[in-house]
Amino acid sequence: MAFITKQFTRTLCSSAARNTAIKHITVIGGGLMGSGITQVAATTGHSVVLVDTSEDILKKSTKGIEGSLKRVVKKKFADNPEAGEQFVQKVLKNISTSTDVTSVVKKTDLVVEAIVENLKVKQDLFSALDKAAPEHTIFASNTSSLPVAAIAGSTARLDRFGGLHFFNPVPMMKLVEVVQAPGTSQQTFDALFDFSKALGKHPVSCKDTPGFLVNRLLVPYMMEAIRLHERGHGSKEDIDVAMKLGAGYPMGPFELLDYVGLDTSKFIIDGWNEMEPDNPLFAPSVLLNKLVAEGKLGKKTGEGFYKYK
Ligand code: 3HC
Repeated sequence: MAFITKQFTRTLCSSAARNTAIKHITVIGGGLMGSGITQVAATTGHSVVLVDTSEDILKKSTKGIEGSLKRVVKKKFADNPEAGEQFVQKVLKNISTSTDVTSVVKKTDLVVEAIVENLKVKQDLFSALDKAAPEHTIFASNTSSLPVAAIAGSTARLDRFGGLHFFNPVPMMKLVEVVQAPGTSQQTFDALFDFSKALGKHPVSCKDTPGFLVNRLLVPYMMEAIRLHERGHGSKEDIDVAMKLGAGYPMGPFELLDYVGLDTSKFIIDGWNEMEPDNPLFAPSVLLNKLVAEGKLGKKTGEGFYKYK
């Protein structure tokens, strides 16, 4: 009997340890990335609460998600628009919104933060969430350039904290970088990796290094494109065409810079330049700085390297 009880307890404990399936997600930040993550998680049957600071932002995010779902459905259900509409409604039912993050996290398995790239703001947020969320809740940041360990340092759950880095547009881009910071436990890393697969994405494993894998290659490449243009060695149109037709990239570097946002690219390169001022790959660009100072941030403001309607 004692043996059975011991066995039973052991089984219970080990299944609790393995029970890392993530079902309820809180996404913080209703911008492009947060909305995209919400959409993909809801589409794959997860229950998602999208959180931001105002109802107006959340309304805009929900409208964006609906629009993006309709684009997906138009192709997937081209022969059956009625089934497409049902699909959209089913996905939307998995999404709710809130402006009260500390009450939402009380029953969530995973928090994915996709707010402004500011270390102090992220640390303050996670420090508050750490007190409100249950023990088992995993925290993840979608930071594109800050050290995950520095964000996690504001909490007492370093072992349950990792990076989940998505790519824009989230519904279309297949990759997720799963970041294992020095404190991230193997169990948390595995849970985040499995979660990324459950989203229908292809996860890759990353260390907590600047830019992880993609941005570490992509950002210096885009900066070099700007420098090439600044030196007068090619027009931005020709450089874009060259990389699309000569290297098979879906967008040229200037199109991509405008798409990602010039402020985001500047923020990343400035941070790295501060860390390694002698690294020529991280040198700032006069032209990029000028455009950002003029408020020309790319597609989202109607003008960056190109003008948009
Ligand atoms: N939601 C849903 N569907 C979308 C979509 C979205 N947001 N964006 C595009 N699509 C789908 C639609 O089905 C669309 O068809 P539709 O126009 O009939 O609705 C289809 O994609 C084709 O889109 P487009 O005709 O607008 O253009 P493309 O064929 O060029 O595809 C693209 C668009 C997928 C964005 C492609 O150009 C691409 O892959 N670009 C590169 C993007 C990239 O490199 N992203 C990574 C940026 S780095 C990053 O995010 C990291 C961060 O930390 C900085």
